[in-house]
Amino acid sequence: MNNTIEGSNSNASNEPIVYLNGQYLPLSQAHISVLDRGFIFGDGVYEVIPVYAKKTFRLHHHLQRLSNSLNAIQLSNPMDNEQWQQLISAIINKNHYDDQSVYLQVTRGVAQRDHSFPKKQQPTVFVMCSVLEPAGNTLGNSGISAITLDDIRWKNCHIKSISLLANVLLRQEALNQGAKEAILINNGYATEGAASNLFIIQQNCLITPPKGPRLLPGITRDVVVEIAHDKNLCVKEQDISFDELLQAQEIWLTSSSKEVMPVTKLNNNMIADGLPGPHWQTMIQAYQDYKQQLRTTL
Ligand code: PDD
Repeated sequence: MNNTIEGSNSNASNEPIVYLNGQYLPLSQAHISVLDRGFIFGDGVYEVIPVYAKKTFRLHHHLQRLSNSLNAIQLSNPMDNEQWQQLISAIINKNHYDDQSVYLQVTRGVAQRDHSFPKKQQPTVFVMCSVLEPAGNTLGNSGISAITLDDIRWKNCHIKSISLLANVLLRQEALNQGAKEAILINNGYATEGAASNLFIIQQNCLITPPKGPRLLPGITRDVVVEIAHDKNLCVKEQDISFDELLQAQEIWLTSSSKEVMPVTKLNNNMIADGLPGPHWQTMIQAYQDYKQQLRTTL
């Protein structure tokens, strides 16, 4: 990061300041080559990191997952954790909002179009942030509707790849059918949402599919599992069959941007009485308390 240009914290149009390959710039001035392999092949990985009161939420977990994704695509990490930390904190401070969503992306950089890796790799590093709306504001407290769709993705869903065409098509299909999210079914088992992890309550026990190549190891998922253990809830990491999903007492979807969303309608049928369930109420309260601790730590 030696070539970093320390830009000003504000600009005339109040545009977000982003980071691109060593420079801090207003968003509209950040440009990449059309030969970037991220643009040409979707050859890259990303992270989305929530920030509350300008403090990153589980940054080390996100950086560890980034490192795992980079290893999985054989791209060496362009920065060490301290450099990432400095860069992310600079971006957070250059933007106004207290609660933000930091998006970071690393691609295999610019090269003549050829599927094989270029001999010299100069990764493209891009970081931006946007305001993080409280999940309840956009979703209300009534829960969301979801539909089940065939999981048409590839066999390495644990990699947080920027190649998201299948996820995009699945989410759009859910929207086209009047739902907010798609829950994906792989060989008769529910894996996760198009951009979220899946939990159900069955016989008062919290169940989520085990980590593995069929799903992204969500950071929010880990927090929810930890909170559930702390609260002495019964928690099982095991496969969820399509029938078990349909018969669940409660269904939740988790992600860094949506936190813990209750699903109250699945395939046009109400889940239980069609309202967010009591286990979700307990979890969301504990999740908010957990965030509040982060906000108030120095
Ligand atoms: N997506 N599964 C998928 C396929 C996802 O895309 C995401 C998050 C998750 C949840 O992971 P986490 O709890 O670490 O956010 C699970 C992000 C938010 C996105 O693509 O915008």
